[in-house]
Amino acid sequence: MTDFAEFAERERAGWQDAEIVVAYVEYIAPLTERAGEQALMALNIAPDTEVLDLCCGQGEMTRRACELSENVAGLDFSETMLERAARVAPMADLREGDAAAMPYADASFDAVLCNFGIPHVPDRTAVLSEIARVLRPGGRVALTSWVGPDGSAAFATAVTAIQGMAGPPSIPQPDFFEFSRGDAAETRLSQAGFQLQSHEVIPLVLDLDRPDGLFQLFANATVGIRMLIQSQEPPVVDAIRDAMAAEVEREYRVPEGYRVAMPATITVASLQ
Ligand SMILES: C[S@@+](CC[C@H](N)C(=O)[O-])C[C@H]1O[C@@H](n2cnc3c(N)ncnc32)[C@H](O)[C@@H]1O
Repeated sequence: MTDFAEFAERERAGWQDAEIVVAYVEYIAPLTERAGEQALMALNIAPDTEVLDLCCGQGEMTRRACELSENVAGLDFSETMLERAARVAPMADLREGDAAAMPYADASFDAVLCNFGIPHVPDRTAVLSEIARVLRPGGRVALTSWVGPDGSAAFATAVTAIQGMAGPPSIPQPDFFEFSRGDAAETRLSQAGFQLQSHEVIPLVLDLDRPDGLFQLFANATVGIRMLIQSQEPPVVDAIRDAMAAEVEREYRVPEGYRVAMPATITVASLQ
């Protein structure tokens, strides 16, 4: 089996970094929260539904879950994120912990939201089996993911420029976009005892005011791509920025600035 230990360590350190968290909340969270809102709706939450917001991050989806239910928990391994979540969703039961070894008893929840958490976890089998363990029979899970370069202008622009100038990632990493493909998501979920209910693409877009805005977003507000960019020599970083900015200028100009598609998927499944 591939060893994703270095990837896992990088993710853990990255999400603790206050600069990344501030940039993530400013630039990416407005999109993730739009997808998360739809994912939350798909969970059919009632006031007595026990809900877990897994990889809750900044806590905005946790807060919205608290508007629907009185029993909401949030789990994340980043103290930096959890400090924010505690301010945003003080009524939730927030805990620090790993999605692959959750600090909850079996059958504790009726619904689990994992909004853009699954692409970041190295061992998806472990996380899905933990979600199945903490859910009650018939419980539902909603997972969101980014669509990969084949269907996403934002990721196509970034990956083409970065791989063109810097080559492929230097450390082994799991397929970031795996759950955006319905067949792959269904296979993983059924192996963990879930039945797929729906798999849907959400057409999110990034509105930028500068052609290098897309580079700035990936270089500052992400963990993996940021580190890949930061590990390059300055001329390579400049070349990546220039290539991305040129593509945005050429392909994505609109009267108000620049508009780049960055679609996501929502996968909903229920525990058999
Ligand atoms: C892309 S952010 C998503 C944040 C939030 N759910 C949202 O709606 O925008 C990924 C979050 O997953 C957390 N995370 C990543 N791997 C994790 C793991 N193995 N266990 C717990 N949290 C994890 C990170 O700390 C980060 O807060």
